[in-house]
Amino acid sequence: MDAKLKETLKAFAKGSGKLCVLTGAGISAESGIPTFRGPEGYWTVGSKVYHPQEMATHHMFVRHPEAVWQWYLYRLGVCRKAAPNPGHRAIAQLEALFADRFTLITQNVDGLHLRAGNSPERTYQVHGNIFFMRCAMACTQAPFPMPQEVPLKEKDDPLTPEDLRLLRCPGCGGMARPHVLWFDETYNEAHYRFFSSLKAARETDLLITVGTSGATNLPNQVVSEALRRGAVMVDVNVEENPFGRAALSSSRGFFLKGKSGVVLPEMVELFRMGL
Ligand code: APR
Repeated sequence: MDAKLKETLKAFAKGSGKLCVLTGAGISAESGIPTFRGPEGYWTVGSKVYHPQEMATHHMFVRHPEAVWQWYLYRLGVCRKAAPNPGHRAIAQLEALFADRFTLITQNVDGLHLRAGNSPERTYQVHGNIFFMRCAMACTQAPFPMPQEVPLKEKDDPLTPEDLRLLRCPGCGGMARPHVLWFDETYNEAHYRFFSSLKAARETDLLITVGTSGATNLPNQVVSEALRRGAVMVDVNVEENPFGRAALSSSRGFFLKGKSGVVLPEMVELFRMGL
């Protein structure tokens, strides 16, 4: 890590500025959860292979609700078996260090940040949480925890009538849907903390982006807004990516190439030295 970045992190810790962390699938890769754009995301319905961008849509849910649920229950099983890694724990430590100076915006639906110790109040799950479902007909807006009895599925396990019984809205008894944002849906505040995320971006003095390819809308707005307001930006990724380039194109930005599970604990140590 270069000397200028070390000094920047220590000086930030000493001051009273705000920190916003934005994470993507890369932070959970070291927990064994495949990143979203890898081949594991693909799914077969009948004889056709679908990409996540086709599978994770309301359009597909309306046509093939059981196939979409089957895909989500498979992914739910992967998330249930995973545990937070040192990267998640480092971000939980950042919240412990900076308290109300800290906000976390995550695109991940795996719930691992909360399991690592970040608080639900300061964690904006902008693409939802796979451990929750809500009424497909929106009889109520409230998300419900997925019943514990919902079984873990392997990729090719079909749904049983019992699974379908469990995947009903507790309010009206109609079909439930996963509590996630689909590609053909729009962000909102009630479910996905859209405005709160933009506010955090506007107010932040330091933005750390971690393990994301920068392919979705709100994260792009967060980065643009933070940079427009003059925030310092640090991007952490194993590969060069659009957010790394955005950071480097700003006079106050840094790109740290490496695994989040290694780089983030080092950053926490530097923040601690500055406190
Ligand atoms: N440490 C840091 N970065 C990593 C690591 C790691 N150990 N492993 C992978 N990465 C990086 C990859 O280089 C890539 O840039 O994580 C990024 C993962 O990119 P995507 O799979 O595109 O995931 P993400 O950016 O979170 O996708 C955003 O798109 O499909 C939707 O809703 C889905 O939330 C998801 C969103």
